[in-house]
Amino acid sequence: MEPERWKDLVGYGILAPSPDNSQPWRFSVKEGALYIFDDKRRSSFLYNAGNRASLITMGAVIENINIAASHHSLKIDAEYLPPGDPDLVAILKAKEGDVEEDPLFPYIEKRCTNRKPYDGRPLEAGVREDLVEEAATVGGVDLSIVDERKRVSTLAKAIGRSDEMLFKKRELLEGLIPWIRWSREEARMWKDGMDLDCLELTPFQRFLFRSLKSWTILSILNLFGGARFAGLHSSRLARSASCLCLLTIPDMEPLSFIRAGRAVERVWLKATALGMAVQPMTGITFLWIVRRLKEEAFTPPERSEVIRIEELLKEVFPDLDGRTPAFLMRMGYAPPPSSRTLRRDVDRVLTVED
Ligand SMILES: Cc1cc2nc3c(=O)[nH]c(=O)nc-3n(C[C@H](O)[C@H](O)[C@H](O)COP(=O)(O)O)c2cc1C
Repeated sequence: MEPERWKDLVGYGILAPSPDNSQPWRFSVKEGALYIFDDKRRSSFLYNAGNRASLITMGAVIENINIAASHHSLKIDAEYLPPGDPDLVAILKAKEGDVEEDPLFPYIEKRCTNRKPYDGRPLEAGVREDLVEEAATVGGVDLSIVDERKRVSTLAKAIGRSDEMLFKKRELLEGLIPWIRWSREEARMWKDGMDLDCLELTPFQRFLFRSLKSWTILSILNLFGGARFAGLHSSRLARSASCLCLLTIPDMEPLSFIRAGRAVERVWLKATALGMAVQPMTGITFLWIVRRLKEEAFTPPERSEVIRIEELLKEVFPDLDGRTPAFLMRMGYAPPPSSRTLRRDVDRVLTVED
């Protein structure tokens, strides 16, 4: 297919979510096919152990391209993780055909992360079934939804403890800091990362947040409970949701994480269509992955804390049965976010080769 048409589809692809809006992607059009690469310069942080967070991101990018292609009566054939180049995630080929437009297409541009407190109202009728059904359209992925208040509370506690760890452990925090844009101007200049408005911080939290620029100041604040305060804030946000949603996959294989990413995008777009606000809360799921793929990154007390957090997760989802928890989000009803993240232009991330 011609590069111009790929360019249009990639424009929808990059509206996908990525960790801290790091946009760890690169594209190339060669002999009519689209090559999608993981840009490791943008994704080398501890939470991305074994590249699993990037693979979820790429799955979401690919799903957006699939959906947008249907709008142009195109069908995409994907070859995932072709051998040879470790950064190559997929090769996509497009075919003209009698393709029905995917009903999720209008929501690609509307989907966003909403970090505001939600109003705690119960899920509207039929939402649970719609979301579970949407996740199941991607083979191998299951969605479990928790809305019973006692279970929400237990999971919210685990979310708080995982975020507390993020603010205590330097290697984890160092993954986040480069993506904070300290002013709107800075965000507009880089067209990546997250500005303070989209993090929805109160003036006092903003003041504390600025201490992230210095590990020494943060360590002092942590002596007075700074990390604990951040964890309690996440817990409160989780408890304000109508439900918490966990996507699971059968194993830890890279391909399963691409599938998880495709399902994340479909479920998120469906929730958007249903008028719901969504925020991923992935501290627990990524600590789970780090413990299995890079255990040496934890000190013995940290390892024990991760195991305690996993036990809380298993208390809420006793039927995990050896499946991998890949992605956790809260969903609910809330006013729109105060700010939206930006994307680097397609021309900066896509090259055309002869
Ligand atoms: C793998 C992955 C993990 C994420 N984890 C979190 C998280 O723990 N907390 C959060 O607030 N947002 C999380 N996000 C959301 C991103 O920060 C968000 O997608 C990005 O900033 C772009 O903004 P948008 O979703 O509004 O387009 C995650 C996204 C992805 C793809």
